[in-house]
Amino acid sequence: MTSFKNPSFKTKFALTTPLYYVNDIPHIGSAYTTMVADVIARWQRLCGNSVLFITGTDEHGQKIQRTAESKGLEPQKHCDRIVSSFVELWDKLNIQYDRFSRTTAPKHEGIVQELFQRVWEKGDIYLAQQQGWYCVACEEFKEKRELLEDGSCPIHTNRQAEWRDEENYFFRLSKYQQALETLYQEKPEFIQPAARRNEVLNFVKQGLQDFSISRLNVSWGFPIPNDPNHTFYVWFDALLGYVTALLEPEQEPTLENALAQWWPINLHLIGKDILRFHAVYWPAMLMSADLPLPKQVFGHGFLTKDGHKMGKSLGNTLDPLELLEKYGSDAVRYYFLKEIELGKDGDFNETRFVNILNADLANDLGNLLNRTLGMLKKYSQSTLPPLTGSDIAEDNPLKQRGIGLSDRVKDFYNNYCFDRACEEILALIRTCNKYIDESAPWKLYQQGKQSEVEQILYLVLESVRLSAYLLSPIIPNLSNKIYQQLGFALDFNQKNFGLKTELQANHFHWGKLPVNQNLPKASPIFAKLELCSN
Ligand code: MSP
Repeated sequence: MTSFKNPSFKTKFALTTPLYYVNDIPHIGSAYTTMVADVIARWQRLCGNSVLFITGTDEHGQKIQRTAESKGLEPQKHCDRIVSSFVELWDKLNIQYDRFSRTTAPKHEGIVQELFQRVWEKGDIYLAQQQGWYCVACEEFKEKRELLEDGSCPIHTNRQAEWRDEENYFFRLSKYQQALETLYQEKPEFIQPAARRNEVLNFVKQGLQDFSISRLNVSWGFPIPNDPNHTFYVWFDALLGYVTALLEPEQEPTLENALAQWWPINLHLIGKDILRFHAVYWPAMLMSADLPLPKQVFGHGFLTKDGHKMGKSLGNTLDPLELLEKYGSDAVRYYFLKEIELGKDGDFNETRFVNILNADLANDLGNLLNRTLGMLKKYSQSTLPPLTGSDIAEDNPLKQRGIGLSDRVKDFYNNYCFDRACEEILALIRTCNKYIDESAPWKLYQQGKQSEVEQILYLVLESVRLSAYLLSPIIPNLSNKIYQQLGFALDFNQKNFGLKTELQANHFHWGKLPVNQNLPKASPIFAKLELCSN
């Protein structure tokens, strides 16, 4: 069995969500990326690692400038308003981020300029004419062949791409063709999952073109040093938001300071639509600046609703706040983590949502705990039996499944297979339900077989405890309730909880239920959900 790391030997793990555009309040796509990132961050902390979890907002550029204009607001005022809705949503989703990086933060400008300077000195920036079709919603130039017949881009079908013909500063991406190909070859884990990696390989194989990193007629951005008619292209500025986020609050905003503690970032978690920026442009910019590269870019899939693409113009958006108000954060987190294989596209359907939550959390897990605690009250005055894990025979089916569970689940979490982690845990829970039904402790009690009864109750409650522990990155509130009812005073919402004591690290092992402890009054942990029509 793998032994879990001693908490005093911490590994550092820095991860990011994308910095979200503030053209509108957050949608379910941004909520999805953020909840997955939060689960990864919580998992790393549970394993005793030292974590820096970065999220934030991308606030410059033409798209935001136009949105603010259309509302008659100063861009900064508009950004401030939208940012507060992100903060509110992350709070309601129970997201434990460490840094919220805003690209309009004054300290960010110096970092952008410093990196620009390095790339400039490398000879990788030049002035030239930029001609092409631009999708403002994507903030990206598109090839004519990428556009639909009506001239819109496939992602923003309600908006026409616009023709641009202006002088811009360019970054010599083409110079890094070979270096990038070597990177992908030598570090296959750099882009995940494999399907996304192939997409990037195919794109790069076609030959990389230099890309423009400045704009002439966009005032909402940082000016290019020595040529203030130009502002930075929003993506050049945005990617560097990850670096600025690494600064400690009181630190002087220099590149050196920013990179000292947490660089390189371990994981950029993003949606598949922005893979090119993260897996091609970003490493090339860093190579040009002679900086180490992030360890991994993971591109997740897209969400649909009832099998259809979501969009305001399509009239079928899914409001994350509304969902949270109806069902609570644990339910929402569980559905998206359990139902969708990370990396694949996934669908939201409210009936399926309610069914899954009721089956897994209300029935299989919740009822199991509740009825077992009910029996413990009746047969043992709510006192945990005088047993430890080693008192149970090795061939007991629950012990057998439980004992290797942490290792299997650990592999799933570390490989971002959250759906499989949930399945594996639920399999133990289902085995417990079957075990109770088959061993019928109520009959054994009537026959006066007290120690057999106690053993069954111990086995089930210990399995529920371990399951709650392993599910805690996904459903922390529910895990808290379970732990409380099992007589523990641990709080999974307490940051750096995993680092606290050796005792907590041991909770990964099967057989940690306290001996002879009297338990508090039991109450259902997860109320059955009703399908609400609005
Ligand atoms: N501002 C850039 C990122 C800059 S990072 C330095 C951006 N922002 S975004 O707000 O448009 O996108 C945020 C994330 O939401 C992206 O990861 C995107 O893939 C994701 N999603 C947008 N719609 C989505 C779905 N329908 N489903 C899942 N995720 C989707 O891009």
